[in-house]
Amino acid sequence: MAQRVILGIGDRTVAAALGGQFHELPDVEIVGVEGTSGELIGAVGAVPRVDVVLVHEDIGPLPALDLIRELVVRHPQLAVILVAGEATAEIFAAAMGSGARGVITDDPTLSELQSRVEQAAEWSATMRRHFQGGADVPASGRLGTLLTLCGAKGGTGTTTVAIHLAVALASADRTVCLVDLDLQTGDIPGYLDVQHRHSVADLAAAADGLDSAVVAEALFVHPAGPHLLLSPPHGEDSEEISARAVRQILTALRTRYDIVIVDAGSQATEANAMAVELADTVVVTATPDVPALRGAKRITQLWTRLQIRREQDVQVLLTRHDRRNEIQPDLARKMVGAPLMKATVPANFRALEEAANTGSPALVKNGDFRKAIGKVAAEAGLLDAPAERRGDSGAALVEFAGILPLIGIVVLLIWQTVLVGLTSMYSSHASNEAARAVAVLGYDRPDERAEVRERAVARIAGAWKDERHLRISVVDGYARVTIDSPVVLPGWRTPFGITTSARVVDETGE
Ligand SMILES: Nc1ncnc2c1ncn2[C@@H]1O[C@H](COP(=O)(O)OP(=O)(O)OP(=O)(O)O)[C@@H](O)[C@H]1O
Ligand SMILES: [Mg+2]
Repeated sequence: MAQRVILGIGDRTVAAALGGQFHELPDVEIVGVEGTSGELIGAVGAVPRVDVVLVHEDIGPLPALDLIRELVVRHPQLAVILVAGEATAEIFAAAMGSGARGVITDDPTLSELQSRVEQAAEWSATMRRHFQGGADVPASGRLGTLLTLCGAKGGTGTTTVAIHLAVALASADRTVCLVDLDLQTGDIPGYLDVQHRHSVADLAAAADGLDSAVVAEALFVHPAGPHLLLSPPHGEDSEEISARAVRQILTALRTRYDIVIVDAGSQATEANAMAVELADTVVVTATPDVPALRGAKRITQLWTRLQIRREQDVQVLLTRHDRRNEIQPDLARKMVGAPLMKATVPANFRALEEAANTGSPALVKNGDFRKAIGKVAAEAGLLDAPAERRGDSGAALVEFAGILPLIGIVVLLIWQTVLVGLTSMYSSHASNEAARAVAVLGYDRPDERAEVRERAVARIAGAWKDERHLRISVVDGYARVTIDSPVVLPGWRTPFGITTSARVVDETGE
């Protein structure tokens, strides 16, 4: 397959010269020549399957290195080469630092050009296979879990929960596809700083023949893990998207991903009603206020009446929860008809605001918020499906997590055996020493006993020296030492002692 290359070069003469050289190379197709950084970003987003982009150092208005950084963040599988007047070590280091795959002079020999572009294209193909593993896997027959999230009304945190669930599950080694079915007002690209021309509309247009290539092309592979299927950039295009198309798209995605998360927004449309009907789990987000909770009741009852889904089969998730709120979960539970989830999403205005403004969900580091997202995932049944599709590593991880407690118990048992062994060893040293001391000193007078004890204790180390847990006696010609056995830590003792004894050999000849 020919390598598809876009040139980003402001100077027309340089562009024409390089373009001419490319014409002489077999297996390379120039699919765009752009003169500014903005046009280049747009073209890379719009043209299907670009392998390599050449960025000239003089391109503007965005400086070339910033532009390269921007391109590789948006398209991790893209190989970018910097075209520079001179290929010095400094320029090379700076280009690589921005994420470029190489540097080439603006007047390269044909073979230089060919080898540099070939290497870059090869890298890009490998990355594409890696990144789109989820999108390219053939339909496996097993359906992934489908979660549909709806808002009880606008602004209740549906998109926030959808995104954070998707990112969290992707980092738990599940293959995740996040679908923006809030067709008119979908705003996932803003929250995730993504620009991608393809959307649900492209798949809806091809819904009758959704093969892997078509699906892979429409999806955006986000560096944070989840693959994204965005809502149409123009709200009016959403009218073309029928319930039937939604059914076909979601089914196609479920055959390819462990988990499909749909942000269905808060408007009741034909398309999101289908997502509600098909889902394994439906979650309605509601803020703790009367309008939102009434909204939750209204929408769940509407679905029941329309026989889309029974109220009992929907869960309501309280978002922006704070203990200082007037409405607490118990009251909310009474106000909605559908079951309320045990997990709630805590109010976290500052971090979420920052994350939303910069398009980076990773900025939300708050432990409570992350834990809450984990609990929502568990309660919504999203952790039930094993992470099989990524191959053995995911499954092995899950299995490993499963046997982790067992490993813990075995390690503790071994440790405990070591503690008991040490106790018995010290006890034996002490009783031998005591027997020797008794033989030399006798054991009748208190000072003799104290001396014997002191000598015996001197043979013991560490926490085992603790006299409260150590008893010495001399009975029938034997010195007996009992040390209380520790559990887990040397200082933690059971009332059960380990006793050893040693015969007192009478050395005085009496
Ligand atoms: N738990 C939370 N704590 C504080 N602020 C939150 C929380 N969840 C969401 N927000 C904020 O509320 C606003 C709306 O959130 P979001 O876009 O996720 O809601 P939505 O239900 O998807 O809204 P829309 O109806 O516009 O689709 C955003 O500014 C978001 O940062
Ligand atoms: Mg939203």
